Amino acid sequence: MERELVVDLEGLRKLASELARALKGNEVVFLKGDLGAGKTTFVRFLVEALGPAEGTVVRSPTFTVLNEYETRKGKVFHADLYRVKSFDFTDYEGEGLLLVEWPEFAKNLKPDLEVELEVLDEERRRVRVKDNRGVRR
Ligand SMILES: Nc1ncnc2c1ncn2[C@@H]1O[C@H](COP(=O)(O)OP(=O)(O)OP(=O)(O)O)[C@@H](O)[C@H]1O
Ligand SMILES: [Mg+2]
Repeated sequence: MERELVVDLEGLRKLASELARALKGNEVVFLKGDLGAGKTTFVRFLVEALGPAEGTVVRSPTFTVLNEYETRKGKVFHADLYRVKSFDFTDYEGEGLLLVEWPEFAKNLKPDLEVELEVLDEERRRVRVKDNRGVRR
């Protein structure tokens, strides 16, 4: 299943909370798009919608590679492979919701969902959401 829409920040927030409701909490989600497209922003909205533990702050894992958050739907692992170009997700897969920025470098990982962001102008992004769940792989 695939859908496409154009969103501003508020629209992206709505999409994230809608997706949050449809997640079990152990999926692999690929976040694609150029630098500054809004991948981290999307994760921030998604984590907010999942009921984060008090004091949770979503920051870009550019330097940490992987951040971990606690939510009402369980753990969220937020990775950014832009700098490292590779990462072993064995310990994380299935243990929580796995959100991956720059998944082009995530070999051996199959996405349940793919979210692709494209910059249209300063405020608007084209978002494609591809749901691979229910597709035999
Ligand atoms: N509709 C929108 N959707 C997402 N981000 C938006 C939108 N409009 C403006 N922005 C801004 O664009 C920026 C997106 O930055 P963000 O760090 O989320 O990008 P990124 O895709 O994670 O980049 P990187 O590859 O460097 O990690 C933020 O400053 C955000 O506020
Ligand atoms: Mg980012």
